[in-house]
Amino acid sequence: MSQNDSNLRGFPLIRLRRLRRNKVIRDLLQEVRLSVKDFVYPIFIQEEKDTQLEIPSMPGFFRIPLKTLSREIDRYYEIGLRSFILFGLPSAKDDKGFNAYSERGVIQQALKRLRDNFSEKIVLMTDVCLCQYTEHGHCGIVKNKIVNNDRSLDVLNKIALSHAKEGVDFVAPSAMMDGQVKSIRLALDSGGYEQVGIMGYSAKISSNLYTPFRDAAQSVPDFGDRKSYQMPYNNSNEAMQEIGFDIQEGSDIVIIKPTLPYLDLLYKAKQETNIPICAYSVSGEYSIIKAAAIEGWINEDDLIIEFTTSIKRAGADIIITYHAKRLAELLMDQK
Ligand code: PBG
Ligand code: ZN
Repeated sequence: MSQNDSNLRGFPLIRLRRLRRNKVIRDLLQEVRLSVKDFVYPIFIQEEKDTQLEIPSMPGFFRIPLKTLSREIDRYYEIGLRSFILFGLPSAKDDKGFNAYSERGVIQQALKRLRDNFSEKIVLMTDVCLCQYTEHGHCGIVKNKIVNNDRSLDVLNKIALSHAKEGVDFVAPSAMMDGQVKSIRLALDSGGYEQVGIMGYSAKISSNLYTPFRDAAQSVPDFGDRKSYQMPYNNSNEAMQEIGFDIQEGSDIVIIKPTLPYLDLLYKAKQETNIPICAYSVSGEYSIIKAAAIEGWINEDDLIIEFTTSIKRAGADIIITYHAKRLAELLMDQK
């Protein structure tokens, strides 16, 4: 007598396989579904040059010239992408990050063009930080080799206001300065931009996964590192504190970044708060997958669907991902 026979005479076997018997049943019972509407696509905009340049450490991902930006966004729109977060690659850097808030800055020009061409058909978000615009490559104003919190806030305010003026929907302060959300909220409100939202990079971990981004933006700090402002990856309570304070300060959406090694933080934040949560799958997460795919060691399409689904399952309401374009194509083809 097999063990099954005895099971069958007593308590019936619980057969979860009934729910997996064929594809239509599995589809019916699928708990988490990806939608193209979940995604925010990062756009790196270069002020100079007319041709797209592939980022060497991010195969398949390109820096888009300002000149061809609208045409490019048109192509993404065609496949269903509606939300974009813009990063500027300015032609000149200085000590104070002038090009981050200049009216003629690359992001300000980009916002103007996109708002003119797409009006309210797309959601425009902008990264608000100094590291791409400063020679020293730090996210704030440096005084005596120290990133000065409160002086940096003044400049972050100016950047946010300059984006608001050109019609941004959400500014995303990523400098990890204390009080940045509060300071920007007050500045936006007193400038008459109370409709502009804030998506705070709240739990931004000091991660080794930002390397490809820094290659692309040439934003490696020229001394020290970002550990005095970005969060240690060891600390979960501190991440919840960062998120809590950003909510109190007026963030409309909070970001947790990177994603896959930090799904515990994402899950915890989802359980403990009601605010919309954005998960940012960062450059290094993209490059790791790409490298393995190029070697033929993994199936890229299947893997990006799996990983992105995991991010949503853990609690992300929206997902910033460099895979958004490919995911959008895959979701269109999905039968
Ligand atoms: C700017 C900024 C960075 C990223 C987003 N905003 C770089 C950094 O903190 O060094 C990282 C994005 C990525 O790796 O995809 N502070
Ligand atoms: Zn920065």
